[in-house]
Amino acid sequence: MDNKAKRHIIKLVSRFPSKESALLPALALLQKKYGYIAEDDLVELSEIMNLPEARVFSTASFYSMLSLKKTGRYHIQVCMNVVCSLLNGASLLSYISEKLGIREGEVTPDGLFSLASVECLGSCGYAPAIQINMEHYENISIEKVDGLIEAIKKKER
Ligand code: FES
Repeated sequence: MDNKAKRHIIKLVSRFPSKESALLPALALLQKKYGYIAEDDLVELSEIMNLPEARVFSTASFYSMLSLKKTGRYHIQVCMNVVCSLLNGASLLSYISEKLGIREGEVTPDGLFSLASVECLGSCGYAPAIQINMEHYENISIEKVDGLIEAIKKKER
């Protein structure tokens, strides 16, 4: 991480009663700044926060809004948990995969999109659900996904 990010994290940690309680905000800061959290940054974070590397790695790998791999500028996460799966979650994932020409865990050649399947996004009552970066979309259909992807492409042209 660069010096600016390091300074932000040190300042952030000073605002919390314990270093451990600042871990998630610090990880979110790195995610927002870089679009993913590199392994080197996790090691550096554990040193800055004086926390075991295993603690930092396990927290970072637990939350689906944090990515440990480089993602596209728009990271599409498709819920594949029970309710969404019963309501065509798998078809949705296949459709997006075909439309973008990438499989799960891959990034489009232009770096614009990446795709992942995730566990419950907390919208079971409004399934199927997807998330693009930090935006949440419920009652999603192939037509709605098309609209979202096309809107992003248009915005980024
Ligand atoms: S199962 Fe998909 S949001 Fe809960």
